[in-house]
Amino acid sequence: MTPPAIRIRRLTQADEPLLWEAVYHAIYVPQGQSPPPKTIIDDPNVARYVNDWGRSGDMGFAAETTVGRPLGACWLRCWNARDRGYGYVDDQTAELSLAVWPGHRAQGIGTRLIRAALEEAEQQYPAVSLSVTSINPAVRLYDRMGFERLGEQGGTLLMLRKN
Ligand SMILES: CC(C)(COP(=O)(O)OP(=O)(O)OC[C@H]1O[C@@H](n2cnc3c(N)ncnc32)[C@H](O)[C@@H]1OP(=O)(O)O)[C@@H](O)C(=O)NCCC(=O)NCCS
Repeated sequence: MTPPAIRIRRLTQADEPLLWEAVYHAIYVPQGQSPPPKTIIDDPNVARYVNDWGRSGDMGFAAETTVGRPLGACWLRCWNARDRGYGYVDDQTAELSLAVWPGHRAQGIGTRLIRAALEEAEQQYPAVSLSVTSINPAVRLYDRMGFERLGEQGGTLLMLRKN
């Protein structure tokens, strides 16, 4: 299949609505399982990845068609001990989230997004972490991008890429 003509652009504070969509599509759904209800994004453990987007330390990129239709996003956020994502390591390490809309996956869009975000992250944070279901094929992408396995618990891998 010919990859769609897309552009990668930096996220702005105005992109919170796009990220509400992205955080839903970032949820891994194993083959043969039904996607969770859309209301899952109201769960505080999911919502924390998007709430108040644009605060200090937030950074990311969107992939969109040449007419501006969103196809994916990769974004980073820093946490502290009181407000932490699944991939929290320490207050300086940013956690990466990544999603490409269904129907557009496995065409190189996620790779372009994560490359752009990691390149920028090298200027901003000492390290980038993420949390991923161990059986998610995305682990191969993270391996290729230089993430190392910090540990595994309950079927979830914690990965880290030092800058
Ligand atoms: C993971 C994801 C962002 C990758 O973006 P993409 O555009 O599909 O990826 P690319 O085409 O650039 O790269 C291909 C790699 O992506 C991963 N990938 C491809 N399709 C995937 C899918 N349906 N689900 C999960 N990972 C997938 C694999 O690691 C693949 O590498 P491989 O060819 O060696 O198997 C995208 O597939 C997705 O949104 N998946 C569902 C949500 C998810 O799992 N997000 C990550 C949570 S940690």
